[in-house]
Amino acid sequence: MTTTPYDVEAGDAVHPGDPVVVDRYTAGARVNHWITAISLVLLALSGLALFHPRLFFLTVLFGGGQATRAIHPWIGVVLFFSFFGLFIRFWRANLWEHTDNVWLARLNDVLGAREERLPEIGKYNAGQKVVFWSMSLLILVLIVSGVLIWDQYFSEYTDLEQKRIAVLVHSLAAITVICVWIVHVYAAIWVRGTIGAMTRGRVTGGWAWRHHRRWLRELVSGKGDRNTGATPTA
Ligand code: HEM
Repeated sequence: MTTTPYDVEAGDAVHPGDPVVVDRYTAGARVNHWITAISLVLLALSGLALFHPRLFFLTVLFGGGQATRAIHPWIGVVLFFSFFGLFIRFWRANLWEHTDNVWLARLNDVLGAREERLPEIGKYNAGQKVVFWSMSLLILVLIVSGVLIWDQYFSEYTDLEQKRIAVLVHSLAAITVICVWIVHVYAAIWVRGTIGAMTRGRVTGGWAWRHHRRWLRELVSGKGDRNTGATPTA
């Protein structure tokens, strides 16, 4: 659904200079997203504090070494369920399509901001989809390997050798997810006007036309539905 800052049906005057704005995320989706974002940041800080003695000073943020050790897995549980909520909301809109291969093949044009040479994009571009599926996989690996080394509750289920492997997998997945997260945040800042999608739930019509034209066309034509992500999904 397309919205404007004024309510035409209620008789508000439409001024030519008023920007057209487009709904992209519901309040529920945004709250879900920011809980996920905050938990990932806290998880990274507490995890890094336990990862290397040089970073041990970060434990002051969580009330000391023992407290950090106790709280880190619980933040992981919050992240897992919170991300699961995002996954349920967005997985369909992140399904791979033929145009995504074309987008990737023309990455030079993407980086050069020559969007007129790219195919029309739906709700998400191939870069966003790669980030989405990488996060999904990595968070799954993190929770499984994390539970295997959560000695407070599960120590008797694994032997030392299995724990060693789980620690290695957990650390590698954590470093990778932090890198993916940096790419995600960088892209959100780099493409001007994107942050507003997750803060206010809206983008400008110009942003939608420039970066996600097929999504905008579907919205305007009323063809959009939750499955294609052409509505501000749940
Ligand atoms: C704290 C820094 C973060 C910022 C500034 C940020 C910003 C954003 C913005 C602006 C969007 C909207 C993009 C669009 O609609 O085109 C978005 C979408 C999204 N974000 Fe974040 N985000 C952050 C952290 C995270 C974290 C930690 C996760 C998951 C672990 C995450 C997962 C997602 C997902 C799944 C979407 C929907 C896009 C898709 O499905 O491909 N974000 N984020």
